[in-house]
This record gives sequence, structure tokens and C-alpha cells, in this order.
Amino acid sequence: MALSGCSRWRIRQGYLLGLFYTIGLLSFTCIIVIWYGVNTDRDYIHPLLTQLIPAGHCACQTSTTFQCSSCLTCSHPDLVQQRTPAPAWKFQPARDGSNEGLDRGQCMAAFPGLFEDVLRATTFWKSQGALAIEDLDEIPLRYGMARAFIHDGELYVAAARSKGEDHRRKIVAVLSAIHRALVADTNRAMRQNIEFVFSVEDKVEDVTSSDHPIWVLARSATEEAVWLMPDFGFWAWENIQNSLGPYDQVVERIKRTDVPWSQKKQELVWRGKPSFAPKLRRALMEAARDQPWGNVKQVNWDQRTNIIRMEDHCQYMFIAHVEGRSYSASLKYRQACNSVIVQNYVEVERDFSDLEDKLEPLLADPSLAERIANNSVRTFRDRYLTKAAEACYWRMLFEGYGSVWNSSISVWSEVHRRERGLRYESFLLMDSRLMFEFDALRLTH
Ligand SMILES: *[C@@H]1O[C@H](CO)[C@@H](O)[C@H](O)[C@H]1NC(C)=O
Ligand SMILES: *[C@@H]1O[C@H](CO)[C@@H](O)[C@H](O)[C@H]1NC(C)=O
Repeated sequence: MALSGCSRWRIRQGYLLGLFYTIGLLSFTCIIVIWYGVNTDRDYIHPLLTQLIPAGHCACQTSTTFQCSSCLTCSHPDLVQQRTPAPAWKFQPARDGSNEGLDRGQCMAAFPGLFEDVLRATTFWKSQGALAIEDLDEIPLRYGMARAFIHDGELYVAAARSKGEDHRRKIVAVLSAIHRALVADTNRAMRQNIEFVFSVEDKVEDVTSSDHPIWVLARSATEEAVWLMPDFGFWAWENIQNSLGPYDQVVERIKRTDVPWSQKKQELVWRGKPSFAPKLRRALMEAARDQPWGNVKQVNWDQRTNIIRMEDHCQYMFIAHVEGRSYSASLKYRQACNSVIVQNYVEVERDFSDLEDKLEPLLADPSLAERIANNSVRTFRDRYLTKAAEACYWRMLFEGYGSVWNSSISVWSEVHRRERGLRYESFLLMDSRLMFEFDALRLTH
């Protein structure tokens, strides 16, 4: 029997519909499986799945690379020579590391290269004209941001917005760090008045467009208008789950418990959540799995399994460091250990494919590894990550920003018939709930 054109069409239609459902079902399953691969915190998932899940943007591809004119070993010769009043002065970690009041010349001599981004932003804004109050008025103040000003050497908070405790604590920590860098300066009343907006979010795009002159924790190479500021963790990182305290106290704890090199475990340690940058973290877990030197595990904060304290990471010769979302707040804690950081100091491929090849020679010759660890401590923990360096950076930021700031700042608002800002000292003592949506002009005393 010959099929009529109509029923032939119906069969083809049925066939197409079937195909459609099959493809639909397959895609759905695929999405579920990939979603699972990205979000699970299980120790093991099939390597094929690790291949499938996307790696996401590499923060390193958009990161800022400094030119050699400003690197650690060949610092800006002009800057140091012109402005160093006492060339004989040399930074000594034990004596000067905690000194928040180094003068300008000492700061320049002690930390070549550290102020690079301040110079960059200053040059950028000079080419744009200058900065004024109106530029700040255009910035919508989102959660995680605050507006403050320095007037006659005193710090005032104009406004602050927090979505939760985490924002509030970070904002208070940043303000406190600014205050500390200010009061350590004997010339602070002579400083130029400035007003500024800062954000405690990981990325500029989390809060605003990159055309605004805000102070941020991280920037990509194309975000030229923003100014880099030091991390809040130098003051203290009081995570809700995990209280770390001031950075220099973490360092003290580590120095107290750190073991001699020969007693360190010849293992590579890492703890974290695989679901945070899953492709890369899973790649590390795979590269270290079943290796005699592998000590790489996923942390479960709810069940409190596999957690090791910051200072206990130092018991290991090798500490892995993996990409996250933005800049790394945790790297400096790893750098506090006299251990070898695997990624930035022993550089490995982004997917850890050469991890074994890179570690074997160091395991075979621990004195080579010890030299890397020693260099890391000398350069970072004992120099560029000290309170002295942090305070120097803050003051250099005030100065660079101040050199392009072109508005007068008054404490008193004629329009509102009240003070435009609350002194930092008073802000700190305020009921913490009032800090969440704070605006000095709407404050009721
Ligand atoms: C600074 O402000 C003054 C007064 O408003 C203005 O005349 C001048 O052009 C500004 N300077 C720059 C570099 O924008
Ligand atoms: C590393 O530093 C320690 C302590 O300063 C020192 O005793 C040791 O010789 C150094 N090791 C190497 C390989 O440089």
C-alpha cells in the first residue's frame, strides 16, 4: 500500500519530534552533569567531567604586569635618588617592619616598586585633567562601598553601605587601616585634604564601571581610572566562619610554630573548596592524587572536615596556590610560611599538568627548595607585607591622589546646616546596625 503524502509527512514529523526530544533530553542531562561538576565539593569526580567543565576567565590574562623600570631589582632610580634624604638608611626587618611611621624617603628606599600603581593612576588622572567633588558625586554608592574624606589630617566618614556583616567588617577594617597610616605620620595636619570612595568587593565590575576614580582591592590592566589600595586583611580579617586576625599576628603565630626546614613534611598541601574555580582546583586534586607527596583535599566547612589552620600549612615544605575569582587575599598568608609556594614561585601550568615534573627535582634536592622558601620570606613576609610597607603605601596613595585632587573640602555643609562627615573615632563607636546604611547628612543625633 502506498502511503499518501500526508501520512508520509506524519511519519517524518513523528521522527523529527523523536529526534527533538532525544536531543533535548541529552542536552538536559549534559547540563545537569556539568552543573554537578561545577558545583559539587566531592573529593572525586570523573576526570572526563573535569575536562568538560569550563575553566572560566583566567584572571592572569587581564592582570597588570609592571614594566621593568619599576621592578624589585631595578627600581625607579630617579625617584629613589631625588627624594631620599638619607641614602645611608637601610630597611632592617626586625627594627623597621612594624614601624608605621617611616618617612617618605625611607618608604622609597625600603620598598622599591611598591608604589607603582599609585604613580600609574596619578599619571592617568593628570592626563584627564584633575579630580573634583563632582566626580565622586557621580558614583552610585553600592553595597560594599564607602565615601570618606581627610581634612586637616583627620579622617571623616561621609557615607557607607553594607549588605551584611562581611561588608561592614571589611569597610571598618579599611577605614581603620587608613586611620593608622594617618596618625603614624607626624606631618599629618600638613597633608592635602582629599575625598574618596572605596569598595571592598573583589572586582571593580561587582560595584561600578571602571571609569570612576574609586579605590579598589584589584584591577585589571584596562581598568585605568581606579586606584589600588591595600587589602583589609592587613588590619584584620574577621571572617564569620574563620577568624584570622591582623596579618602581622598571623605572622607571629606562624613564627612561633614554624618548624626547621629539615623537619617539614615533604608534601604539597592544599585545602579549599573545589566548587570555587572547579576546573583548576580539580586539576590540582587530580595531579596530586595518589602521589606520595600529595596532600590536597577539599574542605567541608559544614562538617568541619579536612580543615587545617593557617599556621599549620607551614608544617609542609610545599604549599599550593590556586586561582580564585580576583586578586588573592590568601596568598599573603601562605607567604608567611617558610615554605615553597607552588604556583607563583615554583610556577606550574594553569592546569597543573606539569606538577609532578616541577616537584620531583625539589623533592630530590630540598636545599634548592629551601633557598626558594628563604627568598620568599625575605622578600615578602619580612619586607613587602609588613605593617611598615602597608602604611607607606597608604600615605603614598593619599599623596598621589592628592596631587590630582582639585576641590576644596569643608567639614561643614552650608546647604544642609550640618557636618558632612562623622569622625572615624565616632563612627567606630556607633551601633553596628547603624553602619549598614550610613549617611552623615541624614544622621540624627
Ligand atoms: C581646578 O579647579 C579650578 C577651579 O575650579 C579650575 O579653574 C582649574 O581649571 C582646575 N584644574 C584642573 C587641572 O582641572
Ligand atoms: C635559609 O635560611 C636559614 C635561616 O636564616 C639558614 O639557616 C639557611 O642556611 C638558609 N638556607 C639556604 C639554602 O639558603
